[in-house]
Amino acid sequence: MGNYVRIFDTTLRDGEQSPGATMTSSEKLEIAKALSRLGVDVIEAGFPAASPDDLAAVRAIAEHVGREPIEGRPSSEPPTIVGLARATKGDIDAAWEGIRPAKHPCLHTFLSTSDLHMKHKLRMSREQVLARIAEMVAYAKTLCPAIEFSPEDAGRSEPEFLYQVLDTAIRAGATTLNIPDTVGYTTPDEFGSLIAGIFANVPGIDDVIVSVHCHNDLGLATANTLAGIRAGARQAEVTINGIGERAGNTSLEEVVMALHTRAPKFGLTTGIDTTQLARVSRMVSTATGIVVQPNKAVVGANAFAHESGIHQDGMLKHEATYEIMRPETVGVTQTNLVLGKHSGRAALSARLVSMGYSFDGPALDRVFARFKALADRRKQVHDADLEALVHDEAAPD
Ligand code: KIV
Ligand code: ZN
Repeated sequence: MGNYVRIFDTTLRDGEQSPGATMTSSEKLEIAKALSRLGVDVIEAGFPAASPDDLAAVRAIAEHVGREPIEGRPSSEPPTIVGLARATKGDIDAAWEGIRPAKHPCLHTFLSTSDLHMKHKLRMSREQVLARIAEMVAYAKTLCPAIEFSPEDAGRSEPEFLYQVLDTAIRAGATTLNIPDTVGYTTPDEFGSLIAGIFANVPGIDDVIVSVHCHNDLGLATANTLAGIRAGARQAEVTINGIGERAGNTSLEEVVMALHTRAPKFGLTTGIDTTQLARVSRMVSTATGIVVQPNKAVVGANAFAHESGIHQDGMLKHEATYEIMRPETVGVTQTNLVLGKHSGRAALSARLVSMGYSFDGPALDRVFARFKALADRRKQVHDADLEALVHDEAAPD
């Protein structure tokens, strides 16, 4: 099974399916380059059958990012470039047209396998679904050696049928089996058991890559992905900032930093250069127009900010008191001790020293009292406010 977790980034495909997240071809190419430098193993570049533009964008990524490692990539091989296709010849042909210039192309095809989807969406029987999977995976295999198959809505599929589906896909030539919790319905214990059940019941499963692809409808995407990895999956499908359909996909930075920060627990590694996470997050936010919530784990503006006096005092004494990872590890310059009404004397004094003022005793008491009065009226007190506040008390050192 190994201890390396492949990071499959689908920001440019599932991420772009977020309402309003459409990106231009040149933005997609720039993001693909940034993902390659970040060290992702696999880039799902798009869904070529969706539009001629999507096909062109996927092709450009295959040519410029997928042929050889671009400068700055922390690997001697270019990333695998994936094109998504429904289980039809037309979609598979279009996806192949997009990815074929890449050194490591991979065709990704999918079909729903939950009873609910088969009945209401596909209007197909189980037998018909199995036959279509066998036919389309085999057809894709005539074009491309690497084939990923996803049973859509696997999280709500009947496990025994799912095992049959996966067995069929392996026999037809699939090299990666991706297990999507398409609607973010499962809980970590259920999703972990689903993956464990697949390892225990699908013949030939040890010869393919088992991948997990979770959605965040209940806010459980990262937890479910980690549960899938704990159960043996060695590929995680993720997006930058967790963007994606509805409540989004599993966020790349959360999974990578969980594996990194809790390395002794997991004993697993990735090829990601974590110091680039904050920059790539900003880039994707700018390109999609989707603002990152301030309290977003790892890359939110408040992820390394502390306002309460107790926490600030702790941080000034030792950085590990209230931070489980250093900001520089994810490319954030420094911890931010935000000055507001919850801040204490220690943080105020430290900020004043960094501005060139040093107060103690009654002078610090007076400045602190004026600071608290101001902080009660303001959400945050900035350096310029402090300048005004200390003006009467002392001149800079
Ligand atoms: O969520 C999903 O089921 C998907 C598949 C296409 C893998 O995105
Ligand atoms: Zn998805």
